[in-house]
Amino acid sequence: MKKNIAVLPGDGIGPEIIAQAVAVLDAVAERYGHQFTYEYAQIGACAIDSCGDPYPQKTHETCMNCDAILFGSIGDPKYDNDPSAKVRPEQGLLRMRKNLGLYANIRPVKPYDSLLDASPLKNGRVAGSDFIVVRELTGGIYFGEPRGRNEAGDKAFDSCVYSKEEIERVSHVAFRYALRRRRKVTLVDKANVLATSRLWRETVKEVHTTYKDVELDFMFVDNAAMKMVSNPKDFDVILTENMFGDILSDVSGVINGSIGLLPSASFGKDRSLFEPIHGSYPQAAGKDKANPIATILSAAMMLEDAFGLSEEASAVRQACSKAIAEGVCTEDIIPGSMYGTKAVGQYIVDIIRS
Ligand code: IPM
Ligand code: MN
Repeated sequence: MKKNIAVLPGDGIGPEIIAQAVAVLDAVAERYGHQFTYEYAQIGACAIDSCGDPYPQKTHETCMNCDAILFGSIGDPKYDNDPSAKVRPEQGLLRMRKNLGLYANIRPVKPYDSLLDASPLKNGRVAGSDFIVVRELTGGIYFGEPRGRNEAGDKAFDSCVYSKEEIERVSHVAFRYALRRRRKVTLVDKANVLATSRLWRETVKEVHTTYKDVELDFMFVDNAAMKMVSNPKDFDVILTENMFGDILSDVSGVINGSIGLLPSASFGKDRSLFEPIHGSYPQAAGKDKANPIATILSAAMMLEDAFGLSEEASAVRQACSKAIAEGVCTEDIIPGSMYGTKAVGQYIVDIIRS
């Protein structure tokens, strides 16, 4: 199989973790006789530095012309600490998601047996958890208008806006995933307060009528945050809006033992993008410390979901499990570990090659 992959390393630890995921893809190509080519493009703070735009048109064209997109991370502390900056790296990520129409973001969570002690939660609560967060990715408060400041500059506002159509299309994605899993969707919202959440409930109930074999329940987001750490086993598919999905998916990193292990896939009408759920971790950039596994597992999702290469994807997943089981892990999992980003990536590459 021949595939052309857009590779967007981005900022912070992005380039280091992406290098390991590309090495893994190369090992897969070699072992299974595929041909993967890569087109690199800029996004985020590094794109602002080089051309003033966090999502340059050239990067958009590269994404549109490739078979799938592999993305690292964006963000730079120099912007986090400067609220007056007009151009911000995050705008690049949001524009990319919007312009590529990536409305459904899938974030799977399933702790490794060998890593239960890495979670601050009791083993018994965490063991056996297996759920996915289906996060709406191109609507809600991240994009709603109007947004900004009043003229005096002493008031700021963001708008949370959702259309029925936006809710419907991501709901179908969630129900379809549920059919392949334990057939339960939990809609997480704040319907006791927000008008958008009430539209979500109404619309998801309607969509549910065409998925009779799937159980649907509803949970307020504050309660869901508590349930996620007290009873994560209760969840199968969590369907939620953009902002709640962002927050809850970070919480899910606690269950897995490290956010550095969690991959994601984003789907739209005709593009798909694969990225770790963690950020750019600037404190670790260039230090060979960051965990490459979330990005490697994102590449596995690409193999399976974008290219239909299930056997190759499970080979990658198995190699990651082996690295974890053998203690070949970065310091987020084993404090003081002797293994860095490159060593973990190389270990996984060697298993795939052998
Ligand atoms: C994520 C990130 C982004 C988000 C940031 C970097 C804008 O936190 O993908 O979860 O909030 O969506
Ligand atoms: Mn986030």
